[in-house]
Amino acid sequence: GCTGNAPAETGDSGQSGTAEEKTVYVVGIDGEYPPYSLIDKDGGATGFDVESVQWIADDMGFEVEIKPIAWDGIIPALQAGKIDMVYSGMTITDERLEKVNFSIPYLKINQSVAVHDDNEFTLDQFKAGELIVGAQRGTTGQIWAEENLVNKGLIPAENLKTYDNFPLVIEDLKNKRIDAAIYDRPSMIAAIEEKPIHITGEIDTGEEYGVAIRKDDVALLETINNGLAKLHKDQKWTELKEKYGL
Ligand code: ARG
Repeated sequence: GCTGNAPAETGDSGQSGTAEEKTVYVVGIDGEYPPYSLIDKDGGATGFDVESVQWIADDMGFEVEIKPIAWDGIIPALQAGKIDMVYSGMTITDERLEKVNFSIPYLKINQSVAVHDDNEFTLDQFKAGELIVGAQRGTTGQIWAEENLVNKGLIPAENLKTYDNFPLVIEDLKNKRIDAAIYDRPSMIAAIEEKPIHITGEIDTGEEYGVAIRKDDVALLETINNGLAKLHKDQKWTELKEKYGL
């Protein structure tokens, strides 16, 4: 649609928008990534990251449109300008830094391994070689499994199964089509609630989450960094961490 021009304003020197109009940034999320970003039953976006960016937007005076995007294609979508940032539990990695900028880190997490309740084994038992491992495609969990299980010969490459989203991994683990799943620990905890699976090990990767922003978008990077710094000092930060068990 076409937005009608507001009546002439004094002092409006041809810049788009009036004092009342706020810039809208499109925030790309994985819609199935509790506790950070998820679409609830009514179709609304919620989660730790979603509430964080909404707080920052209110505080810094912009608006957000939350847009679910397939995780595997979320950086290309950012580069192509379909979204303005990825705010969805994305780990800051050297590989991603070649393509995009990241905000200051806002959370530190480890990977974890989950298995079916009928299974009880630890990380060492990957050495058995026959185990089938599942991970979400394009995640640091997948990369960890490639580097530490496949490349070290602990499992054959075909035993690492990758999925478009994490609920599919959980589904296969529940039904014993895979032996183990690897994922960010806080999201694993959120995903396995009330299911016949449990966490059997933590992998100390010490990953840090950041907000990904296009390299040429330095103004937005500064806005998000300032907003994050303010959020971290606000009571809201403690509230959000408590609410989402982080
Ligand atoms: N932190 C991990 C990564 O950056 C997993 C992220 C998964 N995030 C998501 N929204 N599905 O790869």
